[in-house]
Amino acid sequence: MRAVVYQEPYNVAVESVEDPRIEHPNDVIVRITSSAICGSDLHMYAGRTDAKGGLVFGHENMGIIEEVGSAVTSLRKGQRVVMPFNVACGFCKNCLDGKTGFCLTVNPGFAGGAYGYVAMGPYPGGQAEYLRVPYADFNCLPLPEGTEHEADFALLADIFPTGYHGCELADVRPGDTVAVYGAGPVGLMASYSALIRGASKVFTVDKVPERLNKAREIGAIPIDFSAGNPVQQILDQTNGEGTDKGVDAVGYQALAHSGEGEEPATVLNDLIDTVRPTGALGIPGLYVPSDPGAPNEQARKGQLLVSIGRMFEKGLRAGTGQANVKRYNRQLRDLIIAGRAKPSFVVTKELPLDQAPDAYQKFDKRLEGYTKVILHP
Ligand SMILES: NC(=O)c1ccc[n+]([C@@H]2O[C@H](COP(=O)([O-])OP(=O)(O)OC[C@H]3O[C@@H](n4cnc5c(N)ncnc54)[C@H](O)[C@@H]3O)[C@@H](O)[C@H]2O)c1
Ligand SMILES: [Zn+2]
Ligand SMILES: [Zn+2]
Repeated sequence: MRAVVYQEPYNVAVESVEDPRIEHPNDVIVRITSSAICGSDLHMYAGRTDAKGGLVFGHENMGIIEEVGSAVTSLRKGQRVVMPFNVACGFCKNCLDGKTGFCLTVNPGFAGGAYGYVAMGPYPGGQAEYLRVPYADFNCLPLPEGTEHEADFALLADIFPTGYHGCELADVRPGDTVAVYGAGPVGLMASYSALIRGASKVFTVDKVPERLNKAREIGAIPIDFSAGNPVQQILDQTNGEGTDKGVDAVGYQALAHSGEGEEPATVLNDLIDTVRPTGALGIPGLYVPSDPGAPNEQARKGQLLVSIGRMFEKGLRAGTGQANVKRYNRQLRDLIIAGRAKPSFVVTKELPLDQAPDAYQKFDKRLEGYTKVILHP
């Protein structure tokens, strides 16, 4: 089959690789109809991780079940499904607690597994014609038959639940004011989720015009950090008080306020300054324990200068980590089916698999029109 294979920094190719097959009676094989490119793929793409050549990318996968293992009980051939990016078992301590992003079974020696991702276990990605799904009864979310809502449902694999998770970590409640840093797909989904959860005002910070415009379209207040200190802009619009809650949807590749060069702790420190005393921070933006591309020696070891003293003084609480997609995807699917959520407003391009190399290049440069790309094998 054809698949998007990582070669070396800034280079992926569409190559022929072996077809996946049932390896365990609990597996299914899914014929992929949609697989999205994610900001998380860019960390590997840009050589900022230990990813080795040969890795098949793609953790945001949906499709039609092609083959069913003998022990699978709830799924059948021909069914339309979307898979959480987390590979999880469903029965370990963390899965039982709903923390499927930290499954203890699927990736020995590490809490958490994913498709097509460095250090996340032996699971090739789905930017390919077919995907093997382990513990399939647990890892497939059934969808209505047909082709309706393809792009909305595809976003249930990662960014819609991840944005929602950012709000859950920040404990966003009805009436809250919320600052979301980042208007990439995750930031836009966090802003959208905050509004779904009843936030009174959502400020969405970025500097890319297309992304800020999308924030405005859904009813958030765009804040352009290249036009002035974003913390001050938000304080000015909240009577100097700051917001109740905050979400970091940027992560360790945060740009300095000047927009030139990275300053990995910028968003964490901005959030500490933006959120009012006793507020809460959700941090789905990715931070890594080592980063060869970081601008200083400490940051290369994953250690950042965060104003913990100020955080203590303000009594802020924070939650981090991979989203537990399984915990929210059924409910978010039902909002889509009921017509009460349409996350596909973030999708800017749908392309055949062959155009992945070009799409990666353009998405990496955050070019207009490449905010969220879905590949169709
Ligand atoms: N926790 C999870 O489960 C999970 C899942 C998916 C993605 N992620 C992570 O979420 C983050 C965002 O993902 P994405 O796909 O939206 O990525 P993205 O790279 O498309 O978006 C990041 C956005 O942040 C903006 N930005 C950069 N510096 C900024 C600053 N100082 N202030 C405000 N905005 C700034 C960029 O212009 C960009 O639009 C990444 O770190 C990704 O790895 C985490
Ligand atoms: Zn993703
Ligand atoms: Zn588990």
